[in-house]
Amino acid sequence: MNTRAIMNPAGGLRYHLRALRFKNHEWKPFRWEIGEWLLAWQPKSPTLLLVGPSAGYCLQPFVFEKFERVICLEPDPVARFLFKRHLQQAPLDSRPTLEFIAEDHLVQYPERLPKLVDQYPNVCLLFTNVLGQLRALLNIDDNSGPAFLRIKAAIAEATSGRAWASFHDRVSGYVRPSFENSVTSNSRLKDGEVIELLYSGTLVTKSHRDIQLVDHLTEGLFPMDLPHTYFSWEIEPGRFHLIEAVKSPL
Ligand SMILES: C[S@@+](CC[C@H](N)C(=O)[O-])C[C@H]1O[C@@H](n2cnc3c(N)ncnc32)[C@H](O)[C@@H]1O
Repeated sequence: MNTRAIMNPAGGLRYHLRALRFKNHEWKPFRWEIGEWLLAWQPKSPTLLLVGPSAGYCLQPFVFEKFERVICLEPDPVARFLFKRHLQQAPLDSRPTLEFIAEDHLVQYPERLPKLVDQYPNVCLLFTNVLGQLRALLNIDDNSGPAFLRIKAAIAEATSGRAWASFHDRVSGYVRPSFENSVTSNSRLKDGEVIELLYSGTLVTKSHRDIQLVDHLTEGLFPMDLPHTYFSWEIEPGRFHLIEAVKSPL
C-alpha cells in the first residue's frame, strides 16, 4: 500500500478520521451549500474529470447524476474505495460510470494534466477542495516559485476552452467567518475585502493579535473577473476554512 498517499498532507488518514468525527454535524451545512452551488453548474459535457474527491465527504452524490462518466484523479486508495461505495450506495436516478487514476497529474507532474484531458472528447473538470492544499503539498509559503507556476500553467492549459469549476480554501484559521449564508461577489474578493466583508463581525470583537488566517495561496489560478462564491466550512469545532468557489462561464 502507498504510504505517501495514505499520509498525504492534503487528505490521507488524518482527513478520513476528521470526516468520521465531524461530517455529520460540523461539515453538514457546507456540504449542502456547496452541493447547491454544484447543482447550478450545468456543463454540457457528459464526462467529468474529478480532481481530489477523497471519499466524497463534501460531495453530494446527486451532483454526479448529470454525468455519464466520471474519471477521478485521487492518489489515496482508501479514498478511492470509499468514494466508489459512496456513489454506489446513493439513491440516484442515473449513475455515471466511475474510473480512477491514482498517478499524479497535478502536483509533481502537472504537465500530464492537459495531456490527460486531451484524451477525452468533451470533458469538463471539477477541482474539489484540492487547489488550496497546494501550499501543504508543495510545502511552500508563497506562490511565485517554479513548482506552483508549473501547476498554474497546466491548469490554464487543461481548462482552456472547456467547462470547469473549482472550490478551494481561500484562508483558514480559528476565526469564524461573520456571514451566515454563502456570499457571491462579481469578481474575486481582494484580501482586504475578505477581511472586511467576510470577517467583519469577528474583527470588532477580537484583537488583531488573535486573528491569524492562513492564506492558501490560490490567487491567480483562475480568472479574477468571474463571479466568486464564499462558504464557511467548520472543519473541526472552532476551526474554519473560508472556501472560495468559481466556475467557467461555459
Ligand atoms: C481536502 S481533500 C478533498 C476533500 C474532498 N473533495 C471531500 O469532498 O471531502 C484533498 C484531496 O486531494 C487529494 N490529492 C492529493 N494530492 C493529489 C493529486 N496530486 N491529485 C489529485 N488529488 C490529490 C487527497 O488525496 C485528498 O483526497
